Amino acid sequence: MADDKKKLTDVQDKLLKEAARAREKAYAPYSKFLVGAAVLMDSGKIYTGCNVENASYGLTCCAERTAIFKAVSEGEKKIKAIAIVLDAPDYGAPCGACRQVIYEFGPKAEVIMGTVTGRYEIRPITDLIPLAFGPDNL
Ligand code: THU
Repeated sequence: MADDKKKLTDVQDKLLKEAARAREKAYAPYSKFLVGAAVLMDSGKIYTGCNVENASYGLTCCAERTAIFKAVSEGEKKIKAIAIVLDAPDYGAPCGACRQVIYEFGPKAEVIMGTVTGRYEIRPITDLIPLAFGPDNL
């Protein structure tokens, strides 16, 4: 992934590549907006996901949540980093619902927002969801 910013680490690069590959599996016949995600858990394992739409539109599951729910359902609980790849000019930020779910399992997670053309932006989840409501607030 070439960009004009500081170089990606090997792990960040791998996550973006895995997310791009997962994007090819997206089921998005309604929006035609394909999204892929790859989440790195504390164990070192990577889980991927794509958006899965439905004729009943509101049932759509975003790529990020597909990946995270796959990881959690395999017994993983801690997100280290998550990469998202979509087709946008600069980068694609996760939707609000996904930010909340990322925060639940990774209050210190790094979010790598990539595009199909190789651009990217990297931010901690707390930049994307400031003053977040999480498990510690209950
Ligand atoms: N989408 C994602 O997969 N992740 C996001 O963070 C934003 C939106 C999907 C949902 C829907 O299938 C399509 O993109 C258009 O909103």
